[in-house]
Amino acid sequence: MSALADAEWLNPLIGLLQGVQLSLLRLLAWLGLVGSSHGQPAWPWALRLSGENLLIDLGQARRLALTLVVLALVALLLLAALAWRRRRWLLLATVPLLLVLAPWPQPEIVLVPAYPTSFHRSPTGFSAASIAQGHALYAKHCVGCHGVDGRGQGPLAASQPVWPPNLAGPLLWRRADGDLLWRMLHGTKDRHGTSTMPAFDRLADSEAWALIDFTKAQSAGQSLRATGVWSQPIGLPDVVVRCEGREPRPLSAWRGQRLRIVAAGSATAPLEDPRMVTMQLQASAVAALPRVAGCVIDSPAAWEAFALIAGTDRLAGTQLLADRDGWLRARSAPGAAGWSEDDLLCRTATGPGSTQDDPAPADGLSALIARMDAEPVRFLKGGFVH
Ligand code: HEC
Repeated sequence: MSALADAEWLNPLIGLLQGVQLSLLRLLAWLGLVGSSHGQPAWPWALRLSGENLLIDLGQARRLALTLVVLALVALLLLAALAWRRRRWLLLATVPLLLVLAPWPQPEIVLVPAYPTSFHRSPTGFSAASIAQGHALYAKHCVGCHGVDGRGQGPLAASQPVWPPNLAGPLLWRRADGDLLWRMLHGTKDRHGTSTMPAFDRLADSEAWALIDFTKAQSAGQSLRATGVWSQPIGLPDVVVRCEGREPRPLSAWRGQRLRIVAAGSATAPLEDPRMVTMQLQASAVAALPRVAGCVIDSPAAWEAFALIAGTDRLAGTQLLADRDGWLRARSAPGAAGWSEDDLLCRTATGPGSTQDDPAPADGLSALIARMDAEPVRFLKGGFVH
């Protein structure tokens, strides 16, 4: 992990690879040169550039970065050759030399198999409704092999050609969402072409996306139960929020502000706090609960989604904090006296910890917020997890 922490340049590099390929795909789609697959433009090649292996092999990542610098230089030389007639041949002669000298990375490290859906984005917005839909589908189609908790211990697991993977681990965060979609709908094969997971081709695309949402929410809760932290960053599920005297709005409309979600039922309900927006979560609209906040989230699907992510059957009284980017960061158990830095459950492994130079903030919540703001989530698909 520490080697990765030194490689701050790696995240932008992986982001660049991803961004360039996505832009190319959009351009091709705009020009009408690619077809569509499962509702979005289809990636036309069987390979794509990927950051997955670069995280493991820093040497290759460095080579790739240097090669990209050389390629940029080549592009500049070609432009200069166009403009500068007298030195044209000299400039052009250096191009092949540079291309030969560039430290090209090994193709099998930077190129991975791709599917038509590899660059697809989930259209669900990680909504509570989608998570609930995914939950029902999972119970129907997937528990047999993957198990109720997603750890791959279902009753049919042992009779499979390979053991079903643990969906409660980092797998869902490492894979491109579009790759997960493809594998669910079209099944998986091992290196010899033998089928390993059956295809669920009767599922609608929206159902497959819902399954991805559910498995991620479940995995977050399982991680919290098993390790006490969200090992992979998890976003706020999107739900409908009703604020006094206003039209209902999606929770995502509050992006940019810190949020506190208070699951109703706590005896010591907190009051509104100027450091963040407080919202009351309740399982139904009718419950006659004391109001702690001007804004209320009151659908059964929302309650279920937050309970899943918080990894608890007894959500009442739990409080959750989300940062300005919409990532869930901290939880306080029902009846907890107050907040402290230890409640930060989604944090960088290499974060500053308690060795802070700044004078200690007056109270636990301020300390927690300070640390949350100082250590933003750096998650990038196919790149860093935190
Ligand atoms: C008949 C058993 C079985 C059923 C039913 C099943 N799976 Fe799987 N699943 C597997 C096996 C085996 C693998 C491992 C495949 C491999 O690594 O080649 C797997 C792999 C996966 C993966 C990881 C894919 C990857 O990128 O490595 C996901 C995600 C997944 N399953 C989701 C689901 C979902 C969602 C359902 C329900 C719609 C489901 N599975 C139903 C057996 C099953």
